[in-house]
Amino acid sequence: ALAPAGALAGFAPVGPVAADVDDVVVPDGWDWHSIIAWGDPVERDAPAFDLDAQTPEAQAKQFGYNCDYLTVLPLGGSGKRALLVANHEYTNENIMYPGYVDDESLTVEQRMTSMAAHGMSVVEVRRDGPGSPWRAVPSRYGRRITASTTEFALTGPAAGSDLVRTSRDPEGTTVVGTLNNCAGGTTPWGTVLSGEENFQGYFRNTATPDERNAVYGISDTGRGWDLGDERFDLTKEPNEVNRFGWIVELNPYDPFSTPRKHTAMGRFRHEGATASVAPDGRVVCYMGDDTGGQHMYKFVSRDRVARNPRQGRDNDVLEHGDLYVARFAVEGDPTSDYDGTGEWVPLTRGGRSMVPGMTLEEVLVFTRVAAAAVGATPMDRPEDVERNPVTGKVYMACTNNSGRREPGAGNPRVRNRYGHIVEITEAEDQTSTTFTWALPVVCGDPSDPSTYFSGLPASEVMPIACPDNVAFDAHGGLWVSTDGQPGSLDLADALHHVATDGPERGKVRTFLTVPVGAETCGPVVDSVEGSVMVCVQHPGEVDGASIENQVSRFPYDGEVRVPRPGVVQAIKRR
Ligand code: FEO
Ligand code: CA
Ligand code: CA
Ligand code: CA
Repeated sequence: ALAPAGALAGFAPVGPVAADVDDVVVPDGWDWHSIIAWGDPVERDAPAFDLDAQTPEAQAKQFGYNCDYLTVLPLGGSGKRALLVANHEYTNENIMYPGYVDDESLTVEQRMTSMAAHGMSVVEVRRDGPGSPWRAVPSRYGRRITASTTEFALTGPAAGSDLVRTSRDPEGTTVVGTLNNCAGGTTPWGTVLSGEENFQGYFRNTATPDERNAVYGISDTGRGWDLGDERFDLTKEPNEVNRFGWIVELNPYDPFSTPRKHTAMGRFRHEGATASVAPDGRVVCYMGDDTGGQHMYKFVSRDRVARNPRQGRDNDVLEHGDLYVARFAVEGDPTSDYDGTGEWVPLTRGGRSMVPGMTLEEVLVFTRVAAAAVGATPMDRPEDVERNPVTGKVYMACTNNSGRREPGAGNPRVRNRYGHIVEITEAEDQTSTTFTWALPVVCGDPSDPSTYFSGLPASEVMPIACPDNVAFDAHGGLWVSTDGQPGSLDLADALHHVATDGPERGKVRTFLTVPVGAETCGPVVDSVEGSVMVCVQHPGEVDGASIENQVSRFPYDGEVRVPRPGVVQAIKRR
């Protein structure tokens, strides 16, 4: 029935927990601990964190800020070692730097430190055995990927095109850095995919770029990174902005591997990408473009992989393939008809553009323009999209879209403050070009008549809003983490279990909540061992927060005067 199963069966839901609670709240019978947090050493020669002596060089070896996607990959066969990989999406300067006044007053060194706090981390973790807590250990696998120091290979059809060449990279094949890495996915061959999401807000003098970038909302936010690295000034390097907004692939098992940006998967505000192998061996990735009115995509690889590919062995399967965008249809009134049909409309096929008037390279670099041209369905901020490995159904979190004025297929609510979850059933398998869809949950407070929990009465469900990440446990259970419950329901952001089949379909049970100001990200749920890991992103991010006027002390280690975003693990007590 896909109710909580295995070690999670019968857990006692928490809450609802108020938004101002500064704690991680887990079910009775569970304990939580911190594994790693901002500033902790990642690389072997990393210095200890010193709040008052932050430098770009130190930060580039330490755990970055605002961890989002999280995955844990086995290392060896003992079950005692693993590689933890996390994204670092963005920075909160007002609670990072003592003496912060405003963004204009930041020193160049602080700006470059923030740049180094973006990216990804690979951290070796060890434990005594299954059921014991993971702890981080600096090791030869420890690696920081940053916005400032790491070289990426651009792959696929748009690599080398005029649209991505710059004065520092006249070949258009090597990009320095990755930006705003939000959600992600782990491939069947043990590499990690990471979405470059809100890349549009890192550049200066943005009035000059290609007008096809207008739909990306490229805006001058005054971060001033150009003061330390002039490629962030678009009058000097107009194509630099075209080198961000991609899906990144990193092989964490090889500390010297060159991470890649895959142009065949399109350029937009990538929330993330999740990969699975279709019956014929092709790899399919589902992807969301997180902006109100943007779209849901899927990539189908040209080449095939083995059914059980070797872990940590790089391949080039994501470098070539077809890119599709979703078009949803509904027969009845979209405000009350919560299921319908859909099709995957090709943007590229067989290495050719399928969009009249656009070249292949243009479709891949200006994918939003291409999607609009073929009539893709505008969605309510498509975030994480993932396929349930047990049932084969695909789930997408539409987080919210207060800007929606007209309801549409799959997007039933105007001014959608609370978001909803979309379930997609492919006609045959991941490579199909038609599907049916349904909405198992239209989120909000259950007493709100505009919510829908698959017909369950309000008394049987718990509030949920602003779904962001989706994940599955080994029993096929759906887990949904939220970003926005404090603002929409005045409740702490949470990780929820959502039943998807049987008489409990639509039933929401809250498993944990995160501290004041934080969102819950990157759930890794082990329903066999009884372990749940999440990232606690932006603790203490509330209006008016400063280091002096602090609302969160997460992770409560008593040594540092600021909250530190980090990774926690909840373990079932034995
Ligand atoms: Fe970075 Fe769409 O959340
Ligand atoms: Ca997200
Ligand atoms: Ca996910
Ligand atoms: Ca988020």
